[in-house]
Amino acid sequence: MKRVAILCGGRSSEHEISCISAGGILGAIDRSKYLPIVIGITKSGKWVLLPENFPLKIVDGQLPVVPESAPSVVADIAGFSCQGKALDIDVVFPALHGPFGEDGTIQGMLEMAGIEYIGSGVLASAAAMDKSFAKPIFASHGLKVAAGLTVTSAQWKINSAEITREASSLSYPVFVKPARGGSSRGTHKVHSHEQLAAAMEDAFTFDSKVMIENAVVGSEIECAVLEIDGVVKASIVGKISIDSKFEFYDFEAKYLDGATSIELPAPIDQDIADEIRVQALKAFHALDCRDLARVDFFLTANNEIIINELNTMPGFTETSVFPKMWAATGVSYPEIIDQLLK
Ligand SMILES: Nc1ncnc2c1ncn2[C@@H]1O[C@H](COP(=O)(O)OP(=O)(O)O)[C@@H](O)[C@H]1O
Ligand SMILES: [Mg+2]
Repeated sequence: MKRVAILCGGRSSEHEISCISAGGILGAIDRSKYLPIVIGITKSGKWVLLPENFPLKIVDGQLPVVPESAPSVVADIAGFSCQGKALDIDVVFPALHGPFGEDGTIQGMLEMAGIEYIGSGVLASAAAMDKSFAKPIFASHGLKVAAGLTVTSAQWKINSAEITREASSLSYPVFVKPARGGSSRGTHKVHSHEQLAAAMEDAFTFDSKVMIENAVVGSEIECAVLEIDGVVKASIVGKISIDSKFEFYDFEAKYLDGATSIELPAPIDQDIADEIRVQALKAFHALDCRDLARVDFFLTANNEIIINELNTMPGFTETSVFPKMWAATGVSYPEIIDQLLK
């Protein structure tokens, strides 16, 4: 019996979503082969052992949060232990999203400890997390990206007037977003230069580095990538349909009940869908990813394919886009988990 540590929560703004992802994995893992052990990381960064029956789901409208009061886990290069007892972990499933989880930090720690883990390694995780690095890598592999600029908070402090002038050359509307963000937090559609400063200031509360991008007009098309029996495969592609009351795919649109759905397969030409799948695999290999990823694109009215981002640990709840795309491709949620653990 392999002992699998499911890591969830964490210090990022996607703490709660990560807990729900872990709950899904816990519910679907094959217990005849694997013994799951759920380790939570609190919002303050403390590692704790969660009891088997801890509710990793929405209860009475309340999102799950890792409690500070659970017994502490010590995680270091000797491995994981709780109250002096080694947890003897064989493999870690870092069901963590965003900074301190999806960005190479936890991967580096697990490498140091010599513990196997699911998902991309240090460099791929870090590069995918930071859009200012991922974009030029994608572009160098022939993928199209949105025009834009990257601004650090230090540059903004000294030079906001000039940056505002530069942003105007992208033509409004533009998108302002943290370079290392997630769940659309701190992301703004900015319609005129008068609104730029406020959007920048808000984005800087999420990250010291912010992207200003030309707003791409088109639909959002996603493709899931999974290594199946050693072969990297792309799922059929889906189109995100967002309730028209939302201006873009923002936090509420992503997580409020019924605000968004995914159309599977996306109602687009077969050759365009196939091309998107090819590009998703290209993006996966460009960043040297492993095991899984969700690759997000824009598709314009004249069928231009523009890559937006790649997520190395996409939302993994049973109703998340990644499992849905695989379900539509013929791979069930428990099968995905089995493939990853294999
Ligand atoms: N350049 C852009 N053009 C059009 N829409 C964008 C652009 N950048 C971001 N968006 C919108 O904001 C959402 C969140 O941005 P994204 O880069 O995917 O960040 P996150 O990592 O938070 O998901 C996208 O799904 C899309 O709706
Ligand atoms: Mg996104």
